[in-house]
Amino acid sequence: MAGTRDVAVIVGSLRKDSLNRKLALALAGLAPPALKLGIVEIGRLPLYNQDEDANPPPAWTDFRARIRAADAVLFVTPEYNRSIPAPLKNAIDVGSRPYGQSAWSGKPGAVVSASPGAIGGFGANHHLRQSLVFLDVPAMQQPEAYIGGADKLFDAAGGIANDGTRKFLSGYMTAFAAWIETIIGGR
Ligand SMILES: Cc1cc2nc3c(=O)[nH]c(=O)nc-3n(C[C@H](O)[C@H](O)[C@H](O)COP(=O)(O)O)c2cc1C
Repeated sequence: MAGTRDVAVIVGSLRKDSLNRKLALALAGLAPPALKLGIVEIGRLPLYNQDEDANPPPAWTDFRARIRAADAVLFVTPEYNRSIPAPLKNAIDVGSRPYGQSAWSGKPGAVVSASPGAIGGFGANHHLRQSLVFLDVPAMQQPEAYIGGADKLFDAAGGIANDGTRKFLSGYMTAFAAWIETIIGGR
């Protein structure tokens, strides 16, 4: 196992009390010590416009540099209308350009979706995976994480209230650490 791995965490919701943001923070606490998770904010990225590629806004270049510097990316997202929220798609597009200089290429990734609904954001999870195939982000296949009933997931301190779910998420992060080494071990 290499040293600590820097994992850029992208949260698909901009909401202050976002369940997905809480989940991302809980995952940071459950991850093995080899993973250092940090949320990369996407809420103030100007909408992607190809006309700006020649003279990009600093928010875009900062975001691209932050993703480039990361060893891996973890997406934690709600489902909006059976797909991913627009700010997340915007962040993906911003990171993917200029053409031929995508910041995402080759980064090991993982996708967690969470919803108060029963199917745990499955549609968003798989729409996101479609983009990750094109972006050459090798996304962990198993375990999958579709977290339903997310409005009942947390205790008062923001921890995962249910033992079974906590164990599952802890195992998920351990599997992700192993996946990162499978993809970039030795680097
Ligand atoms: C525009 C919009 C569309 C939504 N569409 C879905 C959906 O397709 N599937 C679903 O399970 N929940 C849907 N929801 C409910 C969200 O899962 C719920 O608001 C959730 O708390 C959002 O995640 P957050 O707490 O991280 O902000 C939608 C919410 C909004 C605001």
